[in-house]
Amino acid sequence: MAPIEPTPLSVGGLQGAIGVFDSGIGGLSVLKALRAEMPQERFIYWADSGYAPYGERSDDFVIARSHHITEQLLAKGPMKAVVVACNTATAVAIESLRTHYPKLPFIGVEPALKPALAQTQTGYVGVMGTQGTLNSTRFDNLLKTVQTDALPKKGHFVLKACKGLALAIEKQTEKSLDDTTEVAQLCAKYVQSMGAFGPANAQIDTLVLGCTHYIFVQEILQKLVGPDVQFISTGEAVAKQTKRLITPANLVPLTPSRSSESEKIELWTTGALSALQSAALRWLDLPPACCHQAAAQSLSPP
Ligand code: DGL
Repeated sequence: MAPIEPTPLSVGGLQGAIGVFDSGIGGLSVLKALRAEMPQERFIYWADSGYAPYGERSDDFVIARSHHITEQLLAKGPMKAVVVACNTATAVAIESLRTHYPKLPFIGVEPALKPALAQTQTGYVGVMGTQGTLNSTRFDNLLKTVQTDALPKKGHFVLKACKGLALAIEKQTEKSLDDTTEVAQLCAKYVQSMGAFGPANAQIDTLVLGCTHYIFVQEILQKLVGPDVQFISTGEAVAKQTKRLITPANLVPLTPSRSSESEKIELWTTGALSALQSAALRWLDLPPACCHQAAAQSLSPP
């Protein structure tokens, strides 16, 4: 496929939008952090809900979707950067995206193993993620590096590939935001299978949310693991890194403009529009007018 040539960053990097994408609504947790960090910026978010979950698909599928979405974002205007707000797409597709679009900065998300190891008191860290993320070479390398760097401190990472959980979170948003039955059952199943949680010796006292969808079930998880367990997610760190990347050192960031929310932020979905609208309203306080249905040709598999 011939790539759309990314428009080079404008003088000072102050024009254009920041693209953000995920297999669905999970990346809204990252978008929230990005908006808090850079209220002056324009964002275009792509929820690929019609093709979720990525975590249980082949690498080729996720790579093809990631390229397709990047093309769609670039077709909407100049992009300063694209945030891959999905651990699975970062794990399997970000290198391919960087090679294909060398002038466009991509910022990825990955399970925050290093901060978790720095914070744990017991040395036992739980990591919840998708199969795609936890089985990837990129994750394997990350795990090895973090363990080597931490020596002589030893970290025990308890990994749990949570099949079905991201999809259940998507479906819950489509059905009713109050119906948490399936999600709660899956959370309980995975938490129980990880072992004992708590502050005592050999108990897991730190839990890494290695999928951007899981932050939306943090309350359910916290009740299951108890109040002593701390959660680690990556939204804020990614937002800070994105800001550093798009703001040249000699420039003061713009003060927030007076444009309306729907001018500054566009959300697109390949799934149900109503689901994106309720998620955007609930978690980002964004009006339904910000949300759009992706055009029909975007719905056909690449
Ligand atoms: N939210 C994504 C992640 O962080 C993907 C979940 C999925 O589609 O399986 O991994």
